[in-house]
Amino acid sequence: MGGRREPFSVMDFPLYYIDHLAGGRLIIGIIASLHVLINHPLAVGAYPLLTWMEWTAFKTNRPEIDRLAYRITFIVFIVTTTVGAMTGVGIWLSTSLFAPFAIGSLLRVFFWGWFAEWLVFIAEVGLICWWFLTWKQADTPEKKRKHIQIGVALSIMSWLTMALIVAVLGFMMKPGEWNQTRAFWDAMTNPLYVPQLGFRTCFALMTGAVFVWFASFFFTKDQDKVAREGSRLRRWIVCRLSHVVLLSLIGTFLFGTWYWNSIPETMRANSSVALLSQQFMNWHGQFRSVLGWTIVAFLVIGFAGLSNTFTVPRWALLIPTVMGIWLLGHFERAREFMRKPWVIGEYMYSNGIHKDELAFLQTEGLLNHATYVRHREITDVNRVECGEDIFLLACSRCHSTTGLNGVVEKFTRMYGEGEAWDSGAMQTFIKGMHQSRTFMPPFPGTTEEAAALVAYLQDLRERPRTLPGAQSAGITVVPPPFSPVAATQP
Ligand code: HEC
Repeated sequence: MGGRREPFSVMDFPLYYIDHLAGGRLIIGIIASLHVLINHPLAVGAYPLLTWMEWTAFKTNRPEIDRLAYRITFIVFIVTTTVGAMTGVGIWLSTSLFAPFAIGSLLRVFFWGWFAEWLVFIAEVGLICWWFLTWKQADTPEKKRKHIQIGVALSIMSWLTMALIVAVLGFMMKPGEWNQTRAFWDAMTNPLYVPQLGFRTCFALMTGAVFVWFASFFFTKDQDKVAREGSRLRRWIVCRLSHVVLLSLIGTFLFGTWYWNSIPETMRANSSVALLSQQFMNWHGQFRSVLGWTIVAFLVIGFAGLSNTFTVPRWALLIPTVMGIWLLGHFERAREFMRKPWVIGEYMYSNGIHKDELAFLQTEGLLNHATYVRHREITDVNRVECGEDIFLLACSRCHSTTGLNGVVEKFTRMYGEGEAWDSGAMQTFIKGMHQSRTFMPPFPGTTEEAAALVAYLQDLRERPRTLPGAQSAGITVVPPPFSPVAATQP
């Protein structure tokens, strides 16, 4: 490799780090999950259903259906254009802060895809406003027909933004041919693309139907002057939505199974990191039972809704809603966890090290080739400081010092409470951590650097202290290898 690295490695960015938060995974996770929770049921799922309601009302001349659709659209409009849109932007912000190397690589691969997605997103926001704000003005058949067309365009755009982003998500787990060809279209059509897109589409429709159903209960009570009309309308919409729930449940199940079977074997094995810690073992079992009960809940609600004689009570609808949210949260978490140790499958590790530069770094040294480190050469005096920089580079995207997934706690658990830490054993563990814990990337440095990391960890255990990220500590740039002049910038 002759010493040159590809650009956009972890080592070209100062590391933003919040102690206790472990690389900001939690922040990215919270923002992204919230975004998906709004996007899937409300944008992708509900818009087509609401458009269909508007169309049906027009076709069959039933203004009460139109009124119901409008009221529900009001809620969807408010939520998607505020929390929905803000969390979408929040994903960019948080990933750029905590994993700039990864988002940088993805941007280079998906440049035109993301550019198209941006256009589609702008169109989507414009269409939402247009559709909702002109609803009341569409008072002639001619105008109504045009208004319904806006709803159709909006539904397509909502789905398209998801369809483009799912390409990136599938790619991160399994880039497929792209790892050989580096071609844009191979990245877009990665092996997980179609199954994941089908899965998310069906899931969105299913949860969207439950949401519209749930919302209907609030708007079909007493507004209609004749109370019987309200309950007739409710029964009508519930029955239609039950069909959607049941059909998309079958789709979710079929695509989900295909998706699961397309995930690389090694990553599937990660799902039962069970082997490793009690915590994950419980979680794995929990995931299965949540999955099972969620399917049962949707089935019961779906079949009950088909019945002519029985009206599902409003509170009962909360059950599939809450379970759907729980399931989606678990699903996103599992997907993110299983991808470890990769941020981009077989290409870049979660700590930003490229697969291709690993061997080079292991012989030439991480400190020699990182941009923002305080020292190039390890001495007796600076060993702990060097170890701290190495921790930031190699471990901090997943571990904090003493907080979330804290590295001190991990070693303590491994060696036993109150036991002494043997530096030699720790060094051996770190050098081979990828073999014994396949969800962790290989240590990307020399033996001497592993020793410096151990010195830092021992020191940290004795004197627990906060590790500041570049945002508060400033950056230090030492001229590349072995130059005697050190330049420090605040
Ligand atoms: C890709 C993310 C990632 C990176 C990078 C990473 N780890 Fe881990 N590590 C994990 C996860 C996840 C666990 C499991 C946590 C659990 O079981 O609670 C773990 C567990 C550990 C454990 C406990 C192992 C056991 O069997 O109990 C130690 C020790 C550890 N890591 C040290 C390190 C060190 C040192 C580095 C940096 C050289 C590092 N890790 C880098 C994700 C990572």
